[in-house]
Amino acid sequence: MISDRSNEMDALLIQLRSNRESRVDTPSKAQNGPSVKGFDFSTLPDYRQMSMQRAAGDLIGIDLPFFRVTSQEDGAQITVAGKRCLQFASYDYLGFNQHPDVRNAAERAVQEWGVSATASRLVGGERPFHAKLEQKIASAYSVEDALALVSGHATNVSVISALTGPKDLVLIDSLIHNSVSEGVRLSGATRLVFPHNDMSWIDRKLAEIRGQYSRVLIVVEGLYSMDGDTPDLVKLAEIKSRHDAWLMVDEAHSFGVLGKTGRGISEAVGIDPRSVEIWMGTLSKALASSGGFIAGSAALIDYLRFKAAGFVFSVALSAPLAAAASASIDLLLAEPERVKKLAENGQYFLKSAKQQGLNVGLSEGSAITPIVIGDSMRAIIAANLLLESGINALPIIFPAVPEKQARLRFFVTATHSRSDLDYAIKTLVDVMKKVEMMPDLATMIRQA
Ligand SMILES: Cc1ncc(COP(=O)(O)O)c(C=O)c1O
Repeated sequence: MISDRSNEMDALLIQLRSNRESRVDTPSKAQNGPSVKGFDFSTLPDYRQMSMQRAAGDLIGIDLPFFRVTSQEDGAQITVAGKRCLQFASYDYLGFNQHPDVRNAAERAVQEWGVSATASRLVGGERPFHAKLEQKIASAYSVEDALALVSGHATNVSVISALTGPKDLVLIDSLIHNSVSEGVRLSGATRLVFPHNDMSWIDRKLAEIRGQYSRVLIVVEGLYSMDGDTPDLVKLAEIKSRHDAWLMVDEAHSFGVLGKTGRGISEAVGIDPRSVEIWMGTLSKALASSGGFIAGSAALIDYLRFKAAGFVFSVALSAPLAAAASASIDLLLAEPERVKKLAENGQYFLKSAKQQGLNVGLSEGSAITPIVIGDSMRAIIAANLLLESGINALPIIFPAVPEKQARLRFFVTATHSRSDLDYAIKTLVDVMKKVEMMPDLATMIRQA
């Protein structure tokens, strides 16, 4: 979280830690059986680092806003730690999570099939709810086929590592999601990180080194999850085709969000979806379910059915999750006004934030707009102050974003009203005034 701190601060924190009593009650005697001591994970260097960060927070009296108990989630509202708030920390971009059609579809699926899919598809066999969902996804993309897996993260890891290996090159954007980086690591392919959205860099690099590799894969996000901006897909499609590379677009945050009818970035920029080899998406964001998908050619999907480890060696997507995602796609296509409302809300929030002089980073004003604060601890304090005023927006701090790029991430949804957005901006402005006047972390600790 906070990696770049002075020796003086480290010493202070270590001293503080050693002066405190451990918060965990360790039983003095083993309750049963012979006494064999397990490894003490609190001795791991990374764990010590985490403990120091917590100690710093405790010292200056700051509650970390993560893992707070929430309840009564209902569209734009949520109860966090007992307090009713406006919700700006949910991926439920179109408000489908509590929609009766989606809930009923999941409930009917449970009645018919039970809660679990009970086996992988390879051995447990195909069920009609998988085919139904996959046909809908393929049809939304106007491609030949699609495949649904149990997790969006596992989809990226499994699919990238199934398609590339040690003789290959994978180019990834510097702001790409962790699941993509993990997939590349597992594949053993050479990994090249290009400056965010710098298409000319890709072009120049491939002109230089394309010949050294067998397969080349470029992976981008349709809507960047921490920054809310988009890649120049038209240019990228031209570049990848000139250099004989494959293009994979992670539409976790853009499917259901971008484009007039929510079909994603290809619809937004007007390119033929078939010019992108691999469309990846999650069922967990706008589709209000859980799981991941790949859409593309019939041969790609056929290959992945046998080669993607997270599909072959993992349980199938369960019936309620598949049915919920199917119902969400039906709603998405039947009611494009939700996508329109989301786009309007996103633009309104961005414009209002800019008018108030807030730092919105690279945001293009879709479902994601960060308010960049810089210092991690200030971002945490800002989130806590917002919560006190009834706004739930979480801080994103190092290492999820680069050091000194900590931010509050606002997920704007179709369920927010104008007055919700106005209240959020007004509260943000007040909170930022307070936060900007605060001393930095080192000074706070010295004063504590
Ligand atoms: C860009 C991106 N890709 C993949 C994932 C993983 O998806 P899931 O949460 O559905 O596993 C996420 C999750 O937030 C994401 O933001």
